[in-house]
Amino acid sequence: MTDAVSNSIARRGVIAGLSLTGAAAAVLAGAAAHAQPKPPAPQKSLYERLGGIFAIAAVVDHFSDAVVRNPIVGRKSKNPRLREWSTKDQDRLPGLKFMRTLWVANVSGGPFVYTATRPGATPLGLEEAHRNLRISPAEFDEVAAELGRSLDFAKVPKREKGEVLAAFAAHKGEVTAGYVAAKGRG
Ligand code: HEM
Repeated sequence: MTDAVSNSIARRGVIAGLSLTGAAAAVLAGAAAHAQPKPPAPQKSLYERLGGIFAIAAVVDHFSDAVVRNPIVGRKSKNPRLREWSTKDQDRLPGLKFMRTLWVANVSGGPFVYTATRPGATPLGLEEAHRNLRISPAEFDEVAAELGRSLDFAKVPKREKGEVLAAFAAHKGEVTAGYVAAKGRG
């Protein structure tokens, strides 16, 4: 009997000791969490920071209409191929807006995959899509400026605007490849 009592006291002591250890561990863990710097919040993709697919589609819609109206690259362009496209091929404009929206959603890290109708050398490559349009570097820059204005219109913050324009500019060589090649041939 005595044995049983002392055993039970001993057991309670062990349990109390354990819970004390548990509490101490919790305090220590709390202190450790305080001592360590917080891990950085996961970086949001450009796609998320732009506001997702609807915000991107709204910018592309505004931008694509502005390009058609632009005097240098639109209906009155000196480039006959751009002039022709902007006046006679307007049934293709909704599709172009769709494809551009997909392209931007893809390049900015969104959950969409752009699949070119005329594939370039890379999945987001644009050389074949633009080759016949013979877009000059100056015409490209005019379109980039139009994109900048559409991003401002949509109140896209400075950092995100810079990133979209940089993604666009990174494909200048591909978009102007048709012009450069034709010029090279004389
Ligand atoms: C990096 C810059 C550019 C991007 C991201 C871009 C994006 C695209 C995309 C995704 C397409 C559809 C391609 C396909 O059918 O698979 C396309 C076609 C087209 N782009 Fe661009 N583009 C750029 C520059 C330009 C410039 C500077 C112009 C000059 C106005 C232009 C005019 C056009 C036209 C007219 C088409 C339609 C061709 C057709 O009817 O199939 N693009 N572009």
